[in-house]
Amino acid sequence: MAVPLFDTATPLEPLRPQIDAAIAGVLDDKRFILGPNVSAFEEEFAAYCGSRHAIGVANGTDALTIALRAPGVGPRDQVIVPSFTFYASAEAIPPTGATPVFCDVDPDTMCVSAETVKAAITPRTKAVMVVHLFGNLAPVAEIAALGLPVLEDAAQAAGTIGPEDARPGSLGTIATFSFFPSKNLGAFGDGGAITTSDDDLADRVRMLRFHGSWDKVTYEHVGYNSRLDEIQAAILRVLLPHLDDWADGRREAGRCYGTAGLGEVVTLPSPGHGAQPAWHLYVIRHPRIDDIATALGEVGIGHKFYYRTPVHRQPAMRELAAGVELPVTDELAATHLAIPMSPVLGRADAEEVVAAVRAAVG
Ligand SMILES: Cc1ncc(COP(=O)(O)O)c(C=O)c1O
Repeated sequence: MAVPLFDTATPLEPLRPQIDAAIAGVLDDKRFILGPNVSAFEEEFAAYCGSRHAIGVANGTDALTIALRAPGVGPRDQVIVPSFTFYASAEAIPPTGATPVFCDVDPDTMCVSAETVKAAITPRTKAVMVVHLFGNLAPVAEIAALGLPVLEDAAQAAGTIGPEDARPGSLGTIATFSFFPSKNLGAFGDGGAITTSDDDLADRVRMLRFHGSWDKVTYEHVGYNSRLDEIQAAILRVLLPHLDDWADGRREAGRCYGTAGLGEVVTLPSPGHGAQPAWHLYVIRHPRIDDIATALGEVGIGHKFYYRTPVHRQPAMRELAAGVELPVTDELAATHLAIPMSPVLGRADAEEVVAAVRAAVG
């Protein structure tokens, strides 16, 4: 039985009539840019995250650049960012004029920690970008206690629950999400959002996403044309009420791997302190990870090395990262593998995956 790496289609099937109606509603209404669905989704998503504001933007990468610019990150500043993440986390920094400074991650959570961030602080550090990688949670409060504004890159963590039931998006100074179709809350195209409880930051974000202007008459900043599309917002409004159920499905899938004995043969991902991760990707580790990948491939089980070349070793970042040594990142890059994860992955699928992993290295 083949097990796909993701299954985003099955959970959406029963919602198809509502999605069709939402799209038809926008076509009938004919307000395609910053219309009523974007405003309503912004309110609903802010309430979901427990944040005062959510502002829709075109994608999760723009969200990061705009969220950095809003509090004034700019030329000559440095922003601390992990290297074990999707490339966009770091790529979003140079367009502000600031420089990424790469830090290492905790080997258990695969996210940054207060220690790894502290080691990268310099007098030019203006902000820290933490990445809630794979749906796990970075320790935002501990990092904020170092005295720097914290931007949460929560692209992979919609649906995750943090300490005292707080959600990613409400833990730091400002946060960003991606609604790329494969994400935990995925649109039918590109989309993103920025959340913050700071009214001034929210105002600046709203201006920056719209050419740095309130009224398309006076332009106060050099901004961006980066709006969440009305059709995507209408679809996201249908999906958002189901996010918690899907997140529970992802948590349950993680438990199925545990009870099927996966932890006896490989290292499983560890939830960050107080986190109940809605696993976006389920990433295991083993010194012979290539053998596991080959064995999974042979029996039709989806798998992927996500960050084999960490960001600080990518050609575009090499100059900025000259001399940077990140031993945990290098180790994770060489030993990690994403195995199937979705809201509908059940016990039988998990047992099949575990049997294949055991056959390879058990
Ligand atoms: C951690 C992380 N940050 C940022 C992004 C960028 O999001 P987008 O693809 O919507 O630009 C992604 C996803 O693609 C991501 O996984």
